[in-house]
Amino acid sequence: MDPRALGPLLLLAGLLLLSGLCGGAPSLYTIDAVGLSVLPGPTVPTGTPVTLTCSVSVSHDSARRLMHVFRFTRFDALVHAVNSTAGEARLRLLPARAADSGDYECQVEVMEKVRHSGGQRLTVTGLQTPVLSLSAGVVYEGGQLVASCSAPQEKGALVFQFFQRPAGAAAASLLKHAISTGTRSEARLVLPEVGDRDLFCNYSIPMAPEAGGSNSSNTLHVLVKALFISPVMVVLPASSVFEGDVVEVVCRVVEPPGSVDVYLTKGRKVLKQSAKVLHYRFTAGEGDGGEYVCKAEYGAAQKETYQTIRVKELFSRPVLSLDPLEVFEEETMRLSCVIDSYSPERLVIEDVRFSVYKNQQLLVQGASYEAFALPSQNGNYTCRAEADGQEHPLAKDSAALVVQAKVPVSVPVLSVVGGRLVVGRPFALRCHSDSGSLPITYTLHGPRRPAQTREVRWAGDEAVFNTSGVPRGADLLLFLCHAQNNELSAPLPSAGHELLHATEVIEPVSRPVLTLVPNGASVSEGQDLTLNCSVQRGTLPVTFTWFSSGRTDPLAFQTLQGNAGTYTIAAVARGHSGGYYCEGSNPALEVKRSFTVVVGIQMAGWKKGLMAVGCVLLLLGRRPRRPPQERPAEEAGQGALREAGQHPERAP
Ligand SMILES: *[C@@H]1O[C@H](CO)[C@@H](O)[C@H](O)[C@H]1NC(C)=O
Ligand SMILES: *[C@@H]1O[C@H](CO)[C@@H](O)[C@H](O)[C@H]1NC(C)=O
Ligand SMILES: *[C@@H]1O[C@H](CO)[C@@H](O)[C@H](O)[C@H]1NC(C)=O
Ligand SMILES: *[C@@H]1O[C@H](CO)[C@@H](O)[C@H](O)[C@H]1NC(C)=O
Ligand SMILES: *[C@@H]1O[C@H](CO)[C@@H](O)[C@H](O)[C@H]1NC(C)=O
Ligand SMILES: *[C@@H]1O[C@H](CO)[C@@H](O)[C@H](O)[C@H]1NC(C)=O
Repeated sequence: MDPRALGPLLLLAGLLLLSGLCGGAPSLYTIDAVGLSVLPGPTVPTGTPVTLTCSVSVSHDSARRLMHVFRFTRFDALVHAVNSTAGEARLRLLPARAADSGDYECQVEVMEKVRHSGGQRLTVTGLQTPVLSLSAGVVYEGGQLVASCSAPQEKGALVFQFFQRPAGAAAASLLKHAISTGTRSEARLVLPEVGDRDLFCNYSIPMAPEAGGSNSSNTLHVLVKALFISPVMVVLPASSVFEGDVVEVVCRVVEPPGSVDVYLTKGRKVLKQSAKVLHYRFTAGEGDGGEYVCKAEYGAAQKETYQTIRVKELFSRPVLSLDPLEVFEEETMRLSCVIDSYSPERLVIEDVRFSVYKNQQLLVQGASYEAFALPSQNGNYTCRAEADGQEHPLAKDSAALVVQAKVPVSVPVLSVVGGRLVVGRPFALRCHSDSGSLPITYTLHGPRRPAQTREVRWAGDEAVFNTSGVPRGADLLLFLCHAQNNELSAPLPSAGHELLHATEVIEPVSRPVLTLVPNGASVSEGQDLTLNCSVQRGTLPVTFTWFSSGRTDPLAFQTLQGNAGTYTIAAVARGHSGGYYCEGSNPALEVKRSFTVVVGIQMAGWKKGLMAVGCVLLLLGRRPRRPPQERPAEEAGQGALREAGQHPERAP
């Protein structure tokens, strides 16, 4: 061996030795087995000491003893842990109780390794019999009792039940369920019935259902004493009385066991409260009938007595009425106060006193009031009927009656809407009365048309009638309207001539006629031509407008206070030939157009002479051809005035 190789070998050996000496963790170990044993056995009666032993065996390469962590679990929840170098650990249940029953397991951890034992079931049979104790042996019905049930030897959370049964009976009924975190429970119990009762309790442990329920506890005897606190209720003079009668209600608890409170209530309202005896006095009114309840309270106990009091009407509420139902100003109105029914066994109707009030002020003693309807009489009227009651007079007021005298309708005025009537066109007429209470009915009568009716129900509405056109303005005189707001009086007609006077009547222009001056037969070049446009009918002023055919913009227009207008073309030239027409219009804004008139212009006389000479010369020269521009010359004498569309005949 190379001596140089010895150095590293020695170093390695030294390191190994060092690590062994320092007692370090073994590099090699394994947990061979983990076991769990239960002694004395898996099923034991309650109270038995039980030992659970967990053992482990580990193989390793170290001389040192290894640390083991033992963990005991029950239903997978940790119940006990031990760190030990020993090969086993113990869990002692001294003694075991039902709550200790369950599936146990042991788990051992050695350094990084963990191993589990198998599961072991422990069943602890039997539960401790609970002990019941009570705060009292005698209670009043409805009173409270404190009961305590305990099983001090048990462990865990217990669910207690408290039972009662009539003494000697077999069947028990559950009084209360109580969940306790400890081994004892206190419960406040109220026993339902009077008599001798047996009470007991039992319990169970939800965490140990196999253990079942406990045996029943000792039975304790309780006497539940009846509580004689039912109040006696007396209504004086009787439970059926008349309005105005004084009624007294007495509620009394006879021989109460202690301090009893008595209440008188009606419809959830407490009328009075007192100790032992209660007196309640009142004068019966309309709303006092109904069921009265007397209630006695003693601790938590209550007793009630009921009685119905009937209050008969002495007389009914008076009713104030107005005659006529609709009063117009200046009419006579009568207010009457009546009562529909009364109790003849208690009341003589003549003893009822009436009075009429206006706006809460006494107006008159008596059942009726008569007046002339005027605005000053408007107001709220009520009446009062009064009769003597037992202690106080009994008075009843009627509902308020609002009297508002109606205003008769005034003479209606008929007018044309817009103030302007165009003859022949449909128009609207308004009929209106300046005063009069609504609703007002307006009726329009006109020539050769059915009457029309409008009802005006609210301020701001008006009666407007659409009507077809009339041929003449004077026909407005034939229209008439009636206004009515009182069925008992005749409708009021409108005044006659006002309508025509207040209306601007416009007659549209008739179709204009266009005439020529001079008459078209003899218009020659150089003469003045006047176009006379005239209308036969139409409201002035009339606007006349002249046009030449084929041009949209007018030649001229004129607005005149007359029925004819003229437009003159000075010194006509041949270029002025053609069609002409005119239009007429007026404030009716309806434009009417004349027929078109055709104007032909004759050649001037001297030109004719010149032409004749020229023609002769041409004929002499060669066979002539008529120049087209001279054609009108040959038409001379054919008449310059033609209707549009007609062609003048050619001269031979
Ligand atoms: C047991 O050992 C574990 C880890 O090794 C440690 O967390 C625990 O505190 C120890 N318990 C006791 C009771 O010494
Ligand atoms: C408790 O007693 C009642 C009445 O005897 C019985 O019906 C019930 O099963 C018992 N319950 C338990 C949990 O023991
Ligand atoms: C429960 O009652 C039964 C029957 O009465 C009895 O045999 C048993 O010993 C009682 N258990 C306990 C724990 O007292
Ligand atoms: C009349 O009664 C009505 C309502 O009932 C009220 O609005 C009005 O102000 C009363 N008029 C007078 C004059 O009391
Ligand atoms: C009257 O005519 C006007 C305008 O033509 C129209 O708006 C209105 O509804 C008509 N009224 C009636 C009652 O026919
Ligand atoms: C225009 O014609 C009307 C109606 O034919 C006639 O009354 C009037 O005198 C004529 N005016 C002129 C200037 O010729």
